[in-house]
Amino acid sequence: MSNDKKRIGISTGGGDAPALNAVIRAAVRTALSYGWEVYGILNGFEGLLDPKRHIKKLGEEEIKGILVMGGTILGTTNRGNPFAMKKIVRGKETEVDRSQLILKNFKKLKLDGIIVIGGDGTLSIANRIFEMGIPVVGVPKTIDNDLSCTSTTFGFDTAVSTATDALDRLHSTAESHRRVMVVEVMGRNAGWIALHSGVAGGADVILIPEIPFEMKHVVRKIQGRYASGREFAIVVVAEGAAPKGGLQFTKVKSDGEVRLGGIGEWVAREIEKTTGRETRNIVLGHLQRGGRPTTFDRLLATRFGAASVRLFKAGFVGQMVALDPPDIVGVPLAEAIKRIKLVPTTSDIVLTARELGICFGDQ
Ligand code: F6P
Repeated sequence: MSNDKKRIGISTGGGDAPALNAVIRAAVRTALSYGWEVYGILNGFEGLLDPKRHIKKLGEEEIKGILVMGGTILGTTNRGNPFAMKKIVRGKETEVDRSQLILKNFKKLKLDGIIVIGGDGTLSIANRIFEMGIPVVGVPKTIDNDLSCTSTTFGFDTAVSTATDALDRLHSTAESHRRVMVVEVMGRNAGWIALHSGVAGGADVILIPEIPFEMKHVVRKIQGRYASGREFAIVVVAEGAAPKGGLQFTKVKSDGEVRLGGIGEWVAREIEKTTGRETRNIVLGHLQRGGRPTTFDRLLATRFGAASVRLFKAGFVGQMVALDPPDIVGVPLAEAIKRIKLVPTTSDIVLTARELGICFGDQ
């Protein structure tokens, strides 16, 4: 790649996260400062299957006012894997590989490369299209904070703030009614949101996927609180948490897609049944993905956006920008997608929580 004027694409894939727009804004501004052209690819990789309708040139006008906006101005999808597109053939659902069309359209558009903003799924696809010959720079995004090789992802801080705010609000109503409140938060395979919001929000029990739990320990903790005169309890449970020896709880959505969910409801029912204490279940769900990004997320996203274009300029494609405090660095995409980043069960924050008397359901 030469250092001349370039035409780059930018795309957002997977579930949205607060501060996606801040990345787009920073990447566009940085590219424009080099005299480059930037094209927004709409709705994840799907946009490259039908570029006539799904590509738009991005300039100052298009990024005006988006720094503080939730969502993504480019749209996104978590079903757009071009290597396995779902298609109904004679009434039966099948998967077709449309990656060659992506390559063809990329060449037709005369792009020099694409900045792909996404989580583990999207970045795995990005790495495959990089291997096919499309220069790619990845930007790590997920509210779950479970991407490797970066100390944190943008979106996580906002999601934790939303969950902590919910716990603060639930405290007063739980106390007034002497109830147990079970709050289910997002976190498919990693319990970062539950752990951080649970500790910051003064939870009594935190259940995360990394620590299989037993209801007898949860119940003992709650009974102990009531016996000591604190007649309410807050339980935070990650959607991906599972009882020891059991499976994660899932629900089939109206479109046939299977999603995690139901663990909070189950835990609440078990607590009420065993303790006789009135128990309510709250699922925070997509509230954690929406709204204005926090200052931390805006700043990180802005640094990621600018750094992604800088990496491109320096010819470091096939890389992902990452936070290695205090620096933003480039790491090989292939490395970043190898494994997800789980909560280390011996980490300081887990230890601190245990010392504060928070129960993880394992003892
Ligand atoms: O990966 C982020 C995430 O928010 C997960 O925590 C959650 O399981 C999933 O997205 C929900 O996705 P959808 O928007 O498809 O329901």
